Amino acid sequence: MESLGLRAVGSHCSLSEMDDLDLNRALDRPRLKIERKRSFDERSMSELSRHDSPRGRSVLDTPLSSARNSFEPHPMMAEAWEALRRSMVFFRGLPVGTLAAVDNTTDEVLNYDQVFVRDFVPSALAFLMNGESDIVKHFLLKTLQLQDSEKRVDRFKLGKGVMPASFKVSHDPIRETDHLVADFGETAIGRVAPVDSGFWWIILLRAYTKSTGDLTLSETPECQKGMKLILSLCLAEGFDTFPTLLCADGCSMIDRRMGVYGYPIEIQALFYMALRCALSMLKPDGDGRECIEKITKRLHALSFHMRNYFWLDYQQLNDIYRYKTEEYSHTAVNKFNVMPDSIPDWVFDFMPLRGGYFVGNVGPAHMDFRWFALGNCVSIMSSLATPDQSMAIMDLLEHRWDELVGEMPLKICYPCLEGHEWRIVTGCDPKNTRWSYHNGGSWPVLLWQLTAACIKTGRPQIARRAVDLIESRLHRDCWPEYYDGKLGRYVGKQARKYQTWSIAGYLVAKMLLEDPSHIGMISLEEDKLMKPVIKRSASWPQL
Ligand code: GLC
Repeated sequence: MESLGLRAVGSHCSLSEMDDLDLNRALDRPRLKIERKRSFDERSMSELSRHDSPRGRSVLDTPLSSARNSFEPHPMMAEAWEALRRSMVFFRGLPVGTLAAVDNTTDEVLNYDQVFVRDFVPSALAFLMNGESDIVKHFLLKTLQLQDSEKRVDRFKLGKGVMPASFKVSHDPIRETDHLVADFGETAIGRVAPVDSGFWWIILLRAYTKSTGDLTLSETPECQKGMKLILSLCLAEGFDTFPTLLCADGCSMIDRRMGVYGYPIEIQALFYMALRCALSMLKPDGDGRECIEKITKRLHALSFHMRNYFWLDYQQLNDIYRYKTEEYSHTAVNKFNVMPDSIPDWVFDFMPLRGGYFVGNVGPAHMDFRWFALGNCVSIMSSLATPDQSMAIMDLLEHRWDELVGEMPLKICYPCLEGHEWRIVTGCDPKNTRWSYHNGGSWPVLLWQLTAACIKTGRPQIARRAVDLIESRLHRDCWPEYYDGKLGRYVGKQARKYQTWSIAGYLVAKMLLEDPSHIGMISLEEDKLMKPVIKRSASWPQL
């Protein structure tokens, strides 16, 4: 193990189990009934019970070596650890993050020589799972200091709570000192501030706390203030009529124009997860109490809105297909006045009888029916999706494996935009041509989120199948950032090699499968007081 760069550690689940908001009792449960035949799959049962113990640790106490799914380290893991360590960034002697890519095959560095907040998340999880928490702590503290700096785009001052998209260490040769230079969107393509960074920061703070049991970091006045500043940007009262968060195109992982403005699923799922994580860490003193109250109310409204209006399955699709339009007053069924004619043809064929997902966006007369992987996986991890909805998302992944996974996990969105639609929606973006990059490209980093969702739903065999695909190519192709093509067969047109989050995402997926109790760091339970009924997997039989 040591030779692989791995240390054998367990993950503590040190935040009190009760810290996770016992939301569900308070929330309206969606009126959903999903019929499914559950095949008897003993293996999944035993895997489920392994991570279903009260503290998230194995109740079976089986030594890993003799366990049914014994963990044979793949040679790729040693290679991945080495590459991850090569990407580490140091500031005044301390590790503070990882570079987005260490690609020596190209001179075109762009901003891939920076530490991106969102990119660092899988690196941080890999380090935490390996018992190396220092780099995560320093990262959290440094980005917190950066949040404090003044940020402007031309003459316009950005909100105090905005967290950087990325930062780099800059060396002053005259004074012989290093300092950090951050980008809050003021130098980014399109000049959009990263809405997801603050959410990831809060999610990572909880992961650190859960993993190390070190409550002293999240309880510092600085961290408490940092969380409140991030949340004050999202919880401020305004003209909103929806509890979802309104944002500009390109403010998250998809950081170019892709028609994800308005209320994109990725941001709503991360918003929900960050709110719940913050709730478990905020101290109810002074303005903390007020913030907690606001969060609780928002969670209540947000989960209702998402579970009802963003959810799409065969039944819901049929209902929308038959919607009346131009309805006034409180009795309206078609509340957002979605025109049935706007339903794209592909959805009718794509939607299986069993399965469903959260659509990409819902707003006035607007429903973006595209599938987005990150938002759906985070919905499962955060329990924004009810247990039935989570199972339905996994069912969809199985039914539509070729479309959503293909030969390289995982399609960032499905389907792609082409022709006239591509011209209008992306603004003729040459990087986002059909089935490339953000426009239906396949991103290996998404493997860790898929794996987390699989473990949460007790269906690890789906993740194993995806890991097998990754292991057959990723290393050979030098860890590309993304793949192109309908099946994800081709290394992406402009993909970086040695992309750090492709490397770290693989490590996290492997470590999650090896020790599913790690899931506690990045998942939130639906309802702690209601003992979950152990459900048998509805997945394919073991391959
Ligand atoms: C690309 C991705 C973005 C990522 C960045 C650094 O711009 O779209 O999500 O953070 O590269 O890897």
